[in-house]
Amino acid sequence: MKKTVNVAVLVSGGGTNLQALIDAERKGVIKHGKIKLVISNKAGAYALERAADAKIDTAVVSKKELGSTEAFEDAIIALLDEYSIDIIVLAGFMAILSERFTSKYPRRIINIHPSLIPSFCGEGFYGLRVHEAALAYGVKVTGATVHFVNEIPDGGEIIMQKSVAIKSFDTPESLQLRVMRLAEWKILPAALEKVCKEYSKERIK
Ligand code: GAR
Repeated sequence: MKKTVNVAVLVSGGGTNLQALIDAERKGVIKHGKIKLVISNKAGAYALERAADAKIDTAVVSKKELGSTEAFEDAIIALLDEYSIDIIVLAGFMAILSERFTSKYPRRIINIHPSLIPSFCGEGFYGLRVHEAALAYGVKVTGATVHFVNEIPDGGEIIMQKSVAIKSFDTPESLQLRVMRLAEWKILPAALEKVCKEYSKERIK
């Protein structure tokens, strides 16, 4: 019997990547997975409104309120269990997950990073900072990477990458938007579909 692959998306901010996933599911680009739950570590994140508009259940899990990484991760794990989540997507999720968490879900957590890994990645490289670093270095090409998440920040196996040209007039903001539009919003849905398809095949073996 065909069973859907249940997906949870973890967010912290605007949620444009979450929107790309919602739109891709609607258009049938994502066929093997269904977004069942959106978890934010920030109350008031606009991504939560995007999820609510799409009638997807949401939850806020705050590390500050829970007081420790363990309690924070346990609260997320409890939600993932409650919704029988198979695949976890980090879509602009600005918290680093410990090995205790990542080792529970081998090849079941994917992350979108706004550079061509191994450039401009690892601890301290997130959001606009990544694009500031690329411009400061003077690279002429950047892009985005979707990878599996393991215990090394941005160090898991690469699933998909797409390059984007840097223009002489770019600011961190203009570059961020071009990388999102030309790379992130395309490869994240494509990579999620690939992972869900493979996961559903593995499960029926
Ligand atoms: C995206 O550019 C994503 O790649 C980046 O944060 C932004 C979130 O935007 N993620 C990281 O830097 C993770 N290291 P969104 O909330 O609009 O999807």
